[in-house]
Amino acid sequence: MTHPLLIQGGMGVGVSGWKLASAVSREGQLGVVAGTALATVLIRRLQDGDPGGVCRKAMETFPVKGLSEKILQRYFIPSGKAPEKGYLRHPLPDARPNSLFQELTVVGTFVEVFLAKAGHTRKVGLNLLEKIQIPTLASLYGAMLAGVDYVLMGAGIPRNIPGILDDFAKGNKASLPLDVEGASRDESTSLSFDPADYPMAKSQLLKRPYFLAIVSSHVLAQTLVKKSNGRVDGLIVEGASAGGHNAPPRVRGELSPSGEPVYGPRDEVDLAKIRDLNLPFWLAGSFGQPGKLKQALALGATGVQVGTPFAFCEESGIDPAIKAKVIAQSRAGTLEIFTDPAASPTGFPFKVIASSGSISEKPVYEARTRRCDLGYLRKPYRREDGSLGFRCPAEPIDDFIRKGGSAEEAENRKCVCNGLMSTVGLSQIQAGNEKEPVMVTGGLDAKRLYTFLAGEDRTGFSAKEVIDCLLKDQFPEEGMAGRYAEASAP
Ligand SMILES: Cc1cc2nc3c(=O)[nH]c(=O)nc-3n(C[C@H](O)[C@H](O)[C@H](O)COP(=O)(O)O)c2cc1C
Repeated sequence: MTHPLLIQGGMGVGVSGWKLASAVSREGQLGVVAGTALATVLIRRLQDGDPGGVCRKAMETFPVKGLSEKILQRYFIPSGKAPEKGYLRHPLPDARPNSLFQELTVVGTFVEVFLAKAGHTRKVGLNLLEKIQIPTLASLYGAMLAGVDYVLMGAGIPRNIPGILDDFAKGNKASLPLDVEGASRDESTSLSFDPADYPMAKSQLLKRPYFLAIVSSHVLAQTLVKKSNGRVDGLIVEGASAGGHNAPPRVRGELSPSGEPVYGPRDEVDLAKIRDLNLPFWLAGSFGQPGKLKQALALGATGVQVGTPFAFCEESGIDPAIKAKVIAQSRAGTLEIFTDPAASPTGFPFKVIASSGSISEKPVYEARTRRCDLGYLRKPYRREDGSLGFRCPAEPIDDFIRKGGSAEEAENRKCVCNGLMSTVGLSQIQAGNEKEPVMVTGGLDAKRLYTFLAGEDRTGFSAKEVIDCLLKDQFPEEGMAGRYAEASAP
């Protein structure tokens, strides 16, 4: 088996949508669709009239009878909703296996993977975050129905995923232990998903995709390989300069004068220990620069995973105006990126690009009414009466405290769900005409985006241009040597 040299990292929400993944896969590298919040992405596209009819085309091929029709009936607006109107939401995510939310997740993920794979025979991956557990089983099943080739998962310890892929490939029911805050030690709660609840017109054997775990330390890599409930096929070793969420430093609580988490020697990955695991591995976090692939290969890696340059290329889901602004800031040397220790309700540090009008600005953050209407980052907790509740530190503070959370934990949290939806042009219009502000994330490499511009007159670049640039040291005769400014960080 040959694995790709270059993996385009999964970027939620909708940043690495099917268009970007398809563009990358068609170039022979691994395109990865972001698996987060695809239920919402699907129903918002349908309410925008599904331009080009692509979602409906994919839904027509969905093998479980009746489900696509039910979803279309509820959410599809042929002429698109009026811009000043809000989107109809799906019910908040909950643990029931057959809820409308779970059905939307299966179909939404199927659609995204199906579209990314359409029209070519190359491989496509799906990225999920371990911390978001409620949709995981439905997402994996929907992706496998569409023939996903790789599943990539980080932001936690995804040791239960390989076995789930094995179960689904055999047509068996699968379950996933749910992390419940406040649960007693001897109690365990599991989510389950049974393919039998999704009867297909004709039975279909599902392929078991490769499973790649995204890790930030060799200790985690070793644990995963030893303790997973099935085969781990490879590792992506990601450093703290990467876009999106970052793993917290091993020594917690220390902040730099600018208020960012401080990473020290204990956070350095011992690559010798990774090599000892004898698995293919890819390096990520500022590897989207010319020469970096060569460096990674020399260290024994199979290749690199790159996010930030792809996030701002033409095919990504980010609103074109935001892309243009960020690239222009990079060119002018004025781009600022802050590793925010508090923004994300997950508790993981989150890279935020300073962008005017976005939630990175204090007045914008303070003017927003706190609410939790998407609910992907709600954490399950055990109520006093023993029932299961859900809470998010970015929800209205009084609600969070009523549910047993603390004011301290809620402080400075941002609604990542709504912020990221807005960044890909799917913002909600809330009551009182309040439009959800955008939240832009990118790795430290965002400062160097200008190096992908193939000329003074260019304001953007394609996924193919990023790939050519990154591969040019490896394949000089096919590369585009000379077209790119020598990369030097401003
Ligand atoms: C806009 C953006 C969104 C991201 N979202 C996710 C995500 O949803 N899940 C995930 O595992 N990684 C996410 N990442 C990380 C990428 O998949 C990739 O590993 C990382 O960007 C590589 O480092 P680089 O940004 O320095 O190229 C995101 C990165 C960016 C830039």
